[in-house]
Amino acid sequence: MSEQTAVISDDGSRKSEASSRQEEKSAGLTSVNSTGGEDPNQMSKRQKKKLLKQQKWEDERDLRKQRRKERKLQRRQQRQSDQQQQEGRDGQSSRKRPRRDVTPVSLRLVVDCSFDSLMLLKDVRKLHKQIQRCYAENRRASHPVQFYLTSMGGQLQQSLDEKDKGWINWKDITIKTEHYSEVLAKDQLVYLTSDSPNVLEELDQQKAYVIGGLVDHNHHKGLTYERAKELGIEHAQLPLSSFVKMNSRKVLAVNHVFEIILAYLEKGSWQEAFFTILPQRKGVVAINQDGENTPAKDQDEDSHSDSDPEPAEPAETRD
Ligand SMILES: C[S@@+](CC[C@H](N)C(=O)[O-])C[C@H]1O[C@@H](n2cnc3c(N)ncnc32)[C@H](O)[C@@H]1O
Repeated sequence: MSEQTAVISDDGSRKSEASSRQEEKSAGLTSVNSTGGEDPNQMSKRQKKKLLKQQKWEDERDLRKQRRKERKLQRRQQRQSDQQQQEGRDGQSSRKRPRRDVTPVSLRLVVDCSFDSLMLLKDVRKLHKQIQRCYAENRRASHPVQFYLTSMGGQLQQSLDEKDKGWINWKDITIKTEHYSEVLAKDQLVYLTSDSPNVLEELDQQKAYVIGGLVDHNHHKGLTYERAKELGIEHAQLPLSSFVKMNSRKVLAVNHVFEIILAYLEKGSWQEAFFTILPQRKGVVAINQDGENTPAKDQDEDSHSDSDPEPAEPAETRD
């Protein structure tokens, strides 16, 4: 309970003792007892003037309240109009999708961070940025997935702690120090790896798809495929060859794989998903059913990547 005591003033209104004292003081009436009542005729000119001033201040209370409200409303309208102008300049309604358009899916997407000791710090920093990108894209996706980071620790955690202190407050993400095989049921796991002979056709909402948290410049070829086989879990590569031709190897960066899955969940088409996400320098060309090839649109036209506040780490270039 508050320590301030309420008192009933002469006009019957309830006031706090502190505010009554303040009013008396400002009216120069500290020695006057409100119930004793001093005759105003006996007040000095100065006291009367102060009393009048005090009354005027009281009388204008409602007016001041009204003006405050008006100023608040004006500020709100100004903010809204600034925001609309900014959105007009950006050519999009808002980077934040209205809540009603969001349909979270049960599919789990795991970034397996167990390769920390195989990477130099500069590559861990790249992985850090790719993970930031995955997080940001999932937060504004139309069909956000259940995002997991497993085997969190080592240099990656150090990088997050140093460069991205807010990461511990990330929402809609499960971060574990344990290996993914200790967190999720083995029969639900599918390792996504370009070296798998299996080609992914559909996404199964009941499955947990694992992406290797690795930036290795092709120094550890086939590593995730070997790990998946050792663990005896399912594995598959993205169906790149069925939909697009590329002038580079089909090994993609973590964020590109992650974003392709998000785009597929939104568009329901692998080809569209590849075209939207893969940078043009990967030389992506669509394979049409009539046998003709159509080049991917210029990445510059793709506001998806350009408008992101956290620039995506480009896909790794292969030697
Ligand atoms: C830069 S790659 C790492 C390559 C690494 N040498 C390996 O053995 O996986 C990052 C991760 O993205 C995923 N990935 C990359 N390209 C893929 C593809 N074409 N199909 C499926 N997953 C892919 C894999 O999970 C891979 O571990």
